[in-house]
Amino acid sequence: MEVIIRPNADAAAQLVAQIIAHDLRANPKLVLGLATGRTMESVYCHLVRMHRESRLDFSLCQTFNLDEYVGLAASDANSYRHYMDELLFNEVNIDPRNTHLPDGCAADLDAECAAYESLIKRCGGIDVQLLGIGRAGHIGFNEPLSALMSRTRVKALAPRTLAQNAPQFDVSTRMPRRAITMGVGTILESGRCLLLATGAEKAEIIAKAVEGPISSMISATALQLHPHCTVIVDEAAAGALAEQEYYRWIFENEPEWAAYRHLATPC
Ligand code: F6R
Repeated sequence: MEVIIRPNADAAAQLVAQIIAHDLRANPKLVLGLATGRTMESVYCHLVRMHRESRLDFSLCQTFNLDEYVGLAASDANSYRHYMDELLFNEVNIDPRNTHLPDGCAADLDAECAAYESLIKRCGGIDVQLLGIGRAGHIGFNEPLSALMSRTRVKALAPRTLAQNAPQFDVSTRMPRRAITMGVGTILESGRCLLLATGAEKAEIIAKAVEGPISSMISATALQLHPHCTVIVDEAAAGALAEQEYYRWIFENEPEWAAYRHLATPC
């Protein structure tokens, strides 16, 4: 695992977008795992900007989102399908048939989860998986006690997740209590993981996820097992990390990061 600390939230999001853009240019058929939530909004803003300004091409890439609420149709303004359409898919040249999210309204949810896993495999597996982190440490909707080898399945949302995400729902829609989510095992099989966390309210959980013991109580700790996981945080989210000096030295000195040190285009 490597940790990169950027001066602010926008610079952190820009770095994530730049890494994705680099991988997409190297492999136009990239299979990209996507996340939703407030933190990701600026990543998608930067990707759309790069599509417009420097012709970043999404025409051949496939995407798989981590999760979707059970019971929300794609047309629902609170669904993750709607979020993705609005913030990314409708704004770039991606083929809608190449954009995949679990169907939270499927008649047979278990069959839907199994089909999602099969589709990921048929597409050759996920090359780069984008991740946020919940305040209680979930990745996707892998709530406390998610097995570290879990696969795509229906998961009941934990009280802290319900509290964290409820403000996004307008009063007319009741927030679903269950979601389909890729499992921790599914996520760990991707070629590379990029976890983005910003803001002081993520500082405590980032320290536990990165420097704490591996535990199914905090599914993000499983990323310590991944051979190529990059955690990108802003100064505020880095606040409780013990080894900040070491992480800063790596970003400032290791040649692989040279091209990324001076990004400064706000979105
Ligand atoms: C959403 C997802 C979640 C979020 C996490 C952080 O697809 O996978 O794990 O990334 O809950 O959400 P925000 O960014 O809203 O704090």
